[in-house]
Amino acid sequence: MSNKGQSGKRASFSGKIGYVLAVAGSAVGLGNIWRFPYLAAKYGGGIFLLVYLILTVTFGYVLIMSETALGRMTRKSPVGAYQTFGKTKSFKIGGWLNAVIPMLIVPYYSSIGGWVIKYLVEYLKGNVQTVAQDGYFTEFISDSFQVEAWFIVFAVLVFCVILAGVENGVERVSKIMMPILVILAVIVAIYSVTRPGAIEGVKYFLIPNPKHFSAMTVVAAMGQMFYSLSIAMGILYTYGSYIGKDVDLEKSTTQVEIFDTAIAMLAGLMIIPAVFAFSGGNPDELQAGPSLMFITLPKVFASMGVGRIAGILFFVLVLLAAATSAISLLETSVSTFQDELHWSRPRCCILMAVVMIVIGTLSSMGYGALDFIQFFGMASLDFFDFLTNSVMMPLAALATCFLIIRTVGFDKIAREIEQSSAFKRKKLYMFFLKYLAPVFLVIILLSSIANVLG
Ligand code: PFF
Repeated sequence: MSNKGQSGKRASFSGKIGYVLAVAGSAVGLGNIWRFPYLAAKYGGGIFLLVYLILTVTFGYVLIMSETALGRMTRKSPVGAYQTFGKTKSFKIGGWLNAVIPMLIVPYYSSIGGWVIKYLVEYLKGNVQTVAQDGYFTEFISDSFQVEAWFIVFAVLVFCVILAGVENGVERVSKIMMPILVILAVIVAIYSVTRPGAIEGVKYFLIPNPKHFSAMTVVAAMGQMFYSLSIAMGILYTYGSYIGKDVDLEKSTTQVEIFDTAIAMLAGLMIIPAVFAFSGGNPDELQAGPSLMFITLPKVFASMGVGRIAGILFFVLVLLAAATSAISLLETSVSTFQDELHWSRPRCCILMAVVMIVIGTLSSMGYGALDFIQFFGMASLDFFDFLTNSVMMPLAALATCFLIIRTVGFDKIAREIEQSSAFKRKKLYMFFLKYLAPVFLVIILLSSIANVLG
């Protein structure tokens, strides 16, 4: 899929399935496999999962529908879509807010993509026991030059695809890869949950315990929902602009949500029970944060007879999932520059490369040589993750809500959605969009800022 066809016309998806797969391909990535389990582990287990599920079927549903409908209605990506409805400064800011987020995410996303390649190489070399040792990961991420080198390998890979414009190839690879990823995840999850002691982890992950609830549970779940479903970052406007009027938006939104959530839950079942099983009943590792996947899974693989093969397969699939997501983040960023600055594609790629190098290097070296650069007490990678997910995305989502409430109007959105089928959850949609979403988003925004300043 590309934003411009050979003729310069707006390209479109091959069909309904093509659209669902493309959105699912963008949605399923490091967010599901790396980010979701560590947040669930850190912010309350079952209660985090419950809050996440509630948010997904309410706010997630409303925002996916809204962004896709606005994209399809205007046939533009976010900056253009906002300007279709008004030319004042606030429309410009609203559009750019959506468009800038992927530009800030893709550099640190690539830094983690680099960690994935490093682990893949270690499994290829057969170092199954070495990577499972305590302290291995911490030592690796503080070796700044090594981390930077792997970040660059990942970034170059993604840029090559973008420059060559072989998105079709990527789409085809995703179609084969997704089912393999699911099968492998099921196998590893079954293996994890059947380890001695793992059942405590299954309970921690699946059974909500109000004692584990805190304001951060909601803040983190909300940010994760945006991130995982690729909401509030311009992607769905862009994808919506490629689809035909016959695509049933309600049905495809439901399918994407189910698929994305299922993969996240599988990742949770692979990782969280393993923390309990391999930490001898003292699961301090639950607090490990971004490093969790890289600490826990190697222990699981080291204990398997076929650990090397499992490790290779797993990291190949994570790499592909990460690469397809990073490609769509980068593609959106480059096409925004092309549309708005009217620069050539290579020139826009160079601009994005500069952004990548600056933010990516800060993120990669932030646990080593550049660890003196901290933002509000956070390492660079954690800061960019927090800034985009907990501050900018709620703002971008608010902008979308206000655009519909104040300017576009429900009727027009409803008519857009009804072009393909009856709008079954219309009342729910309106109620959430008008009353709950804005109030809730403001509360989330304020509590995440208070959390950092406090
Ligand atoms: N949803 C992706 C993930 O969960 O990893 C992250 C992402 C990829 C967001 C691509 C946006 C995007 F365009």
